[in-house]
Amino acid sequence: MKKWIYLCLLGGAAALGSCSGSRHADAPKGKVSIIPMPASVTEKQDSFLLDKHTVIVASGEADRKTAALFNAWLKEFTGYELDIKEQGDRNAITLHSGNDSTNAEGYTLNADSKGVTINGNSSAGTFYGVQSLIQLLPVQKAEAMYIPGVSITDAPRFAYRGLHLDVGRHFFPVEFIKKYIDLLAMHKFNTFHWHLTEDQGWRIEIKKYPRLQEVASKRKETMVGHYSEDNQQYDGKPYGGYYTQEQVKEVVKYATDHFVTVIPEIEMPGHALAALTAYPNLGCTGGPYAVGTKWGVFDDVFCAGNDSVFTFLQDVLDEVLPLFPGKYIHIGGDECPKVRWEKCPKCQTRMKQEGLKDAHALQSYFIQRMEKYLNSKGRQIIGWDEILEGGLAPNATVMSWRGIEGGIAAAKQHHDVIMTPGNFCYFDHYQSQGHNEPLAIGGFTPVSKVYSYEPVPAELSKEEAKYIKGAQANLWTEYIANTDYLEYMVYPRASALAEVLWSPADKRNYDNFVERLKVHVKRLDQKKVNYAKHVFEVTGTVAENDKGVAVKLDSKLDGGKIVYTLDSTAPTLQSTAYTGPVQIQQSGTLRAQVFQGDKPFGNEYSQRFLFHKGLGKKVTLATPPGKEYDPGNAAALVNGIEGLASYNDGQWFGYNGKNMEAVVELDSVQDIRLVGMNTLNLRNNWVYPPKQVTFSVSEDGKTYKEVYKQTAFSQTGINQVRGKVDARGRFVKLNVTNFGTIPAGAVGAGSPSWLFIDEMIIQ
Ligand code: ACM
Ligand code: ZN
Repeated sequence: MKKWIYLCLLGGAAALGSCSGSRHADAPKGKVSIIPMPASVTEKQDSFLLDKHTVIVASGEADRKTAALFNAWLKEFTGYELDIKEQGDRNAITLHSGNDSTNAEGYTLNADSKGVTINGNSSAGTFYGVQSLIQLLPVQKAEAMYIPGVSITDAPRFAYRGLHLDVGRHFFPVEFIKKYIDLLAMHKFNTFHWHLTEDQGWRIEIKKYPRLQEVASKRKETMVGHYSEDNQQYDGKPYGGYYTQEQVKEVVKYATDHFVTVIPEIEMPGHALAALTAYPNLGCTGGPYAVGTKWGVFDDVFCAGNDSVFTFLQDVLDEVLPLFPGKYIHIGGDECPKVRWEKCPKCQTRMKQEGLKDAHALQSYFIQRMEKYLNSKGRQIIGWDEILEGGLAPNATVMSWRGIEGGIAAAKQHHDVIMTPGNFCYFDHYQSQGHNEPLAIGGFTPVSKVYSYEPVPAELSKEEAKYIKGAQANLWTEYIANTDYLEYMVYPRASALAEVLWSPADKRNYDNFVERLKVHVKRLDQKKVNYAKHVFEVTGTVAENDKGVAVKLDSKLDGGKIVYTLDSTAPTLQSTAYTGPVQIQQSGTLRAQVFQGDKPFGNEYSQRFLFHKGLGKKVTLATPPGKEYDPGNAAALVNGIEGLASYNDGQWFGYNGKNMEAVVELDSVQDIRLVGMNTLNLRNNWVYPPKQVTFSVSEDGKTYKEVYKQTAFSQTGINQVRGKVDARGRFVKLNVTNFGTIPAGAVGAGSPSWLFIDEMIIQ
């Protein structure tokens, strides 16, 4: 085979044409499986054979660097690398970069038996063309590899495609940060948001302020378990770390070579406890302070009335700016309690002098003053959406994280927006409802949900939509202490977001993405990424029918066999094979597992069901639950599944400051012996028990009679309400009264409390 190729190449141009035709006539046809999906792909009949004799043709420094990166990748994969030449036309991968600044990241890629040509609109485009080329190569290692013949025309949908990493709560070494960036670039992300300062640690060397290294980069110990637990425990182990300026430069250079811009975040005025510990005069009370050892939001923030705070921050930025050549500097702005400012004479004086009507205006003053400084240095600020409160700084870009409302408001004010709404873009959320997931902050954001995200809110006009520059996933690391778990949280959710941000909206198709993901994870294997496998696990979907509810089991695993049990025993290969939806006919646990050959793959599906008269029956809600805690379907109130104490399972109906009323309609008038429901009490998380719960029963749906009432709910966590009754009817009504405003002294004081209700039970 090899020798024959040499003969072919020696045959001259005319011979080469016919030769290459036959050379590849029956070549194995590789599949095109690129993530993110390119804008346009046309497959051809022939293919290109890459081997040791293939050369890369590249001129210009940037393209030669990209060629060298391709070589580095190839060497790691195959053990050999290619010659890089200025010229050449046979058996070549030719890189060329144009000068199109309007669509700089676009490229075309043509591969056929004669060669591969990548034409980038700029050197960034060429780089992305090479990323696509790598994904055209087979995932199996071989001396010679076929690249399927293809014609690709591609460009990103959004200009800003970001991933964030919090190194404050936990610190990750430079080598890992490079790997993180490498994976970003592989997915055509172009921005790394490096969250460098936090309450629990300051992580960037500032030479003028040595106590940031000596004091602010270290904490005494770290809390274990979840923040919401009543009895908080600590590990007793000192923790710390920071990046030297030399290391930061090394990271930024690495990122630049991978066409990734690094945006540093220096948080202000909140999340500043570590800095205050090092320099207590920067706080309103003067301290003493201690670097945070628990998670959450702290009242001690930078004093807004003290000019030395601004001097300090400007000095810090004077050292930060030369390290980061990009135009954006993120200055935080989120979660800044105002309680210290309200009592601080300096802050109060500032408010009077500047004519600021409230503490929000003072925060706005703070941000605007820093913006002015950064603008004077030729930089633009980004802030979290709280910077809208009290008035937006004139040139600020807004990062919308508390949902999409901040992004909408900023776009309407003609400010640039980066979308990072929690429900879709927070990769610290759980990605599975499996019971053996490692501890996470909460939420539930599976890959499919990330994939479904549409960054441009429907509320915006076409003109306003132009201000949505893109989106970003955030990775807060309170509960993420090591790189294995970190990668597990990011991939493949980031692969899904990459496609949201790069590919044309009409090219997005989840099933097709999952097919490509089957190939893509092998590329992640090559890079030793500890990605999560939930996409291929067995999943269960509960649907109501005239007999109650049935569970549809599914797995995207090729050739997987699904088995299940209903008697709580662990499913084995010998258990009942799944053939169609499983009807729930009694209380118990449905356990299912997909097998690959004779080995179980991934987590099992395990769901306890309560069988009762209301199961799958029609539910009418007087008011819909709050958007953040809405199962999305009233039927979930009687689906047999009780919401869990972790409240991230999509079962709870959450009402923020509102009462709940639900009516369940049975098939006929019947005897009712028990009515019930569960409610949640997690005061640290703003979830309060109800003031009162009543159940009433009716035969006609018009005239109701109260059958049960309860006003005390003493448990922390889940409170089960179960009322023995002697009633007869067809309609059962549940009325629940919200606790109301969170009392003074409690977490979230003054805000409306959440009321959480799930599984209404009728026996
Ligand atoms: C944030 O998640 N506090 C921006
Ligand atoms: Zn103050």
